[in-house]
Amino acid sequence: MLPTSLSSLHATTSSSAPSLFPLSTSCPYPSSSSSCSSSFSLSFQPSSHQPRRLLSFAPNFNTHIRRNSKPKVLKVHCSTSEPLKVMISGAPASGKGTQCELMVNKFGLVHISTGDLLRAEVSAGTDIGEKAKEFMNAGRLVPDEIVAAMVTARLSREDVKQKGWLLDGYPRSLAQAESLEKLKIRPDVYVVLDVPDEILIDRCVGRRLDPVTGKIYHIKNFPPETEEIKARLITRPDDTEEKVKSRLEIYKQNVEAILSTYSNIMKTIDGSRPKEVVFEEIYSLLSEVQKDKVKLIKSGNVKPEGESSSNQAPVYQDKWRGIPTRLNNIPHSREIRNYFYDDVLQGTQRAVNDGRMRLKVEIAIPELNPEMDVYRIGTLMELVRVLALSFADDGKRVKVCVQGSMGQGALAGMPLQLSGTRKILEFMDWGDYGALGTFIKIGSIGAREVEEQDDIFILVAPQNAVGNCIIDDLKAMTDSAGNRPVILVNPRLKDLPGSSGIMQTMGREKRLEYAASFENCYSFRLLYYAGTQYPIMGALRMSYPYRYEIYKRVDQPSGGEKYEILSTFSEKPSSDDINDAFLGKPRNQAKKASGFW
Ligand code: AP5
Repeated sequence: MLPTSLSSLHATTSSSAPSLFPLSTSCPYPSSSSSCSSSFSLSFQPSSHQPRRLLSFAPNFNTHIRRNSKPKVLKVHCSTSEPLKVMISGAPASGKGTQCELMVNKFGLVHISTGDLLRAEVSAGTDIGEKAKEFMNAGRLVPDEIVAAMVTARLSREDVKQKGWLLDGYPRSLAQAESLEKLKIRPDVYVVLDVPDEILIDRCVGRRLDPVTGKIYHIKNFPPETEEIKARLITRPDDTEEKVKSRLEIYKQNVEAILSTYSNIMKTIDGSRPKEVVFEEIYSLLSEVQKDKVKLIKSGNVKPEGESSSNQAPVYQDKWRGIPTRLNNIPHSREIRNYFYDDVLQGTQRAVNDGRMRLKVEIAIPELNPEMDVYRIGTLMELVRVLALSFADDGKRVKVCVQGSMGQGALAGMPLQLSGTRKILEFMDWGDYGALGTFIKIGSIGAREVEEQDDIFILVAPQNAVGNCIIDDLKAMTDSAGNRPVILVNPRLKDLPGSSGIMQTMGREKRLEYAASFENCYSFRLLYYAGTQYPIMGALRMSYPYRYEIYKRVDQPSGGEKYEILSTFSEKPSSDDINDAFLGKPRNQAKKASGFW
């Protein structure tokens, strides 16, 4: 039974402070439509040219010119059997076009910019162009029908199938995202450029375009190379401060709805840094996605383009099957346990492959939440074994560590949760190939445990005990590990009462700072009404490198249940954020005029 009084959500872990916001079952998505309601009946004939940043508003300028005619950079070899599919999104002037140019040069993708396609139509004086012009010049979105027809026509062309695609500025409304979903057109990765408002406005107002080369300049940041170029530069009619503000507003109104469609393949990148730095991150992301794609095709899990019936399956999180149901059935079934082991493994592997070194896994399904009566140490051990064997399979030497007895004399002891763990680990079945003792070693926590041959460390639920603080040992160990990955599985590094003051060996602030230096590569917890553990109201999940996702559990008329995504966050959401998501309130960040939307 659902509590009828004003209650609030809380998480299964004690870290989430209860709050006083009531829940609502109303749809939390912001208005999905683009800014216009007019409807057109259109037949779209794709132009034969391949426009890039076309300058339709240039006086005496009617030809379609590539922005940069001579790519100097080395191209990454993309096998034609697994072309990349990329979407890039971000507020006006976040640098989408700038980054697309670099991506095209490196990855050979077909760049499809709806802004460019529309400007080409305006420039060519077509019917579509005439209709689009008034919306564009006013800084408003062009009606969905026009843009959707243009994009799908362009995506169906042969070069796109051969080389892969890079969709820039589309979808920009929920309707546009849905029309792609219906056609099963999904990217491998969804890149979001995050830039604060004040920078965006400055970039737009200072942007100048060269009608001859199509190159983008900025009066301060990228001034033209010669006086001759400077003399011919033009300004986009929608780049006035007033219009930029209106474009920004429209972007914010629509972005949330689109993000939820792609949250599981989304990567947010700080676009306020120099363009080369931004591209470096995009480059390594796309290279990783490309590698994953090749691996999957080789493993037979995904068919190459053209052979698949649903040829747009996302690669980066393709194995993720949504949140399993019946999570309140205890003990968890083997399928559910395996599901979570695999989910944790994917996020952890991606983080390690990305060179992340101080990682933590926080998984609080009932069987792994020590604050619930159904906690099972065996489930934790199984999870650790899956992680360790997987890294060992990749040829890494893994050290699995459990803290030993801490303290002295009457204060000696270890947290109850961990007693007997080391023995269990030693007796566990580590496979037929003798991994234990060669690729996998069992150790304790401390600097002395770090040996030269160790490649990676998995620390099982390191935690403080009453009167004893593990952080000194942990810190000494991570210092010795240097740039080798250290993964904490379900750490509990919060303060506990210190009967002897031993807890104070490191200042509280330092302890918190140290604990916070580990980044989540996986996080999952169930959400309940405050003070209850039934029914499950939803879940919070994050798997590196994606965003935190808040899900709502919905009962189905058939008697089943499902989890629907409500909202996503680049940082771990607070209890207030979670409550707001359930209430359908706009996010705090969105309310502010800057930050990520
Ligand atoms: P579109 O052309 O897509 O405009 P936009 O999304 O507003 O984006 P911009 O082109 O302004 O910016 P950008 O992110 O590409 O940044 P850029 O690299 O140029 O769309 C125009 C209009 O078409 C829309 O308003 C709408 O009317 C219509 N439209 C388009 N798609 C639609 C759709 N799907 N549905 C409906 N209507 C649609 O960079 C900007 C400036 O910053 C440059 O000066 C650059 O030099 C500089 N810069 C870039 N990166 C950096 C950096 N890292 N550091 C410093 N400066 C930088």
